[in-house]
Amino acid sequence: MTRTREDVWTLTEAEGDWPAVLVAYERAVGLLRALDPPTGPPSNPLGWRFLAAIHGLEAPNGDPDTSNELWSNCQHGSWYFLPWHRMYLMAFELIVQDALGDEDWSLPYWYAIDPDDAGKAVLPPAFRDQSRQLYTDQRSIPANGGSPLPDLSQALLEALGADRFSTPSGLSTFGGGERAAPSWSGGEVGLLEGVPHGAVHTLVGNDFDRNNRVVRRGWMGSFFTAALDPIFWLHHSNIDRLWQVWLDLDPANANPTGDPAWADTEFSFPAVGGDLETWSIGEVLDLASIGYEYASTAAPSAITPPVGPSLGAGPNIGLGEEAMPEPIPPQVIGTTTDVPLATADAVDVELSTPAALDFAVAADAEPVGDGRVFLRVEGVTGTAGAAVYEIYLNVPPGEAPTDHPELRAGFFSTFGLTEASQTNALEDGSGLTTVLDITAVRDVLEEQGRWDPARLQVSFSPVTPAETAEDVEAAEGQPSDLVAGQIAVVVT
Ligand code: C2O
Repeated sequence: MTRTREDVWTLTEAEGDWPAVLVAYERAVGLLRALDPPTGPPSNPLGWRFLAAIHGLEAPNGDPDTSNELWSNCQHGSWYFLPWHRMYLMAFELIVQDALGDEDWSLPYWYAIDPDDAGKAVLPPAFRDQSRQLYTDQRSIPANGGSPLPDLSQALLEALGADRFSTPSGLSTFGGGERAAPSWSGGEVGLLEGVPHGAVHTLVGNDFDRNNRVVRRGWMGSFFTAALDPIFWLHHSNIDRLWQVWLDLDPANANPTGDPAWADTEFSFPAVGGDLETWSIGEVLDLASIGYEYASTAAPSAITPPVGPSLGAGPNIGLGEEAMPEPIPPQVIGTTTDVPLATADAVDVELSTPAALDFAVAADAEPVGDGRVFLRVEGVTGTAGAAVYEIYLNVPPGEAPTDHPELRAGFFSTFGLTEASQTNALEDGSGLTTVLDITAVRDVLEEQGRWDPARLQVSFSPVTPAETAEDVEAAEGQPSDLVAGQIAVVVT
């Protein structure tokens, strides 16, 4: 029998009061919380804190705690992000069902950034009731107060417009960069993982002052604590749903099922009865066969399938045809290194003769030859930044980037920043990498006669979160210390 994961806001509106699925969820949260001692290392694999530790647990020295092999296993910044989190939810749902004695209970989803309904950007009321179990004060004060998240629907539309799930070539993808083996924070963050996913984490978890600087961190803002917040699971239910939305959108959108490094990779989770539940990625790709469906997998109305950026007629970056025989593997046409992102000034990237790629995954880079241009913001490290940045190209001098939506290349989320900046057993401190397809902006600039074949100017503009709470407004945030290891322009 196929269960249905429902839209939490649709249920809430229909019933006015708490929907039954959340009443049951609250009961389960209480039952699972009671299985673990409230402090000290989590000990019961079915307990709430243990389940959250599977995602991440911070050791006393600040590193991920891997003293139990089930802990600190989350997969970010690669093509393992979506399938790992799907299995994590499957394991969680089975444990909740068992606690409730109800095998029909299904995790609802919170469609926090719904381009067709800005009202859903508010945390559902059941999670804001201070006297109840679904509430936590380890959250952004405005989010807990019912303020909407900022409108990031453009980012969601762009993520759903991605035309490949993954790639070994360091280009932008829906699902994240290819990796040979699982990794904690990976490399190229997929578009869906960046915004909406990461942005919802940071904006629900953390508080920012009016200059977009971090004032206070809550559970959703870190790998180590995110799954302690009951809203985490509904947020990920929605991310899992958006994966299916993307697959349904265009017959050309597909999972990389042909690649054993992806499809045969297995992950294990605690199961009721003391055993482990182990799935391979290939086993969890068909929703019907894993027992659930979503109330809706309709695409946002702004999308008319099939989607995907309109491809240029071929290389057209002002470099001359000899310089760009096709098809060729992607080529780097310019880089700049050690770029502080806190600055209000645009960053210059000098463009020149194409050169071979120099990043890790390039070994199996494949010829593409479709004349597209990509911006790689590589290896961003630091401890603090705004939740989300918009990235703009060649903004006219003296003008505000936000006045030029046609020059917006895309979005950059800082979720996972500190985790990806650490060097430890799980991570080499290589930071966060976001890749954006800038072909459309290049075309706009060319039309305006403002594409400069010798230089690209990149501006980072922080997205202002929901209104700040009074006591947060008075606080002085931590100044941004973000540095991008390299910004590279890549052509295919
Ligand atoms: Cu593993 Cu939403 O995070």
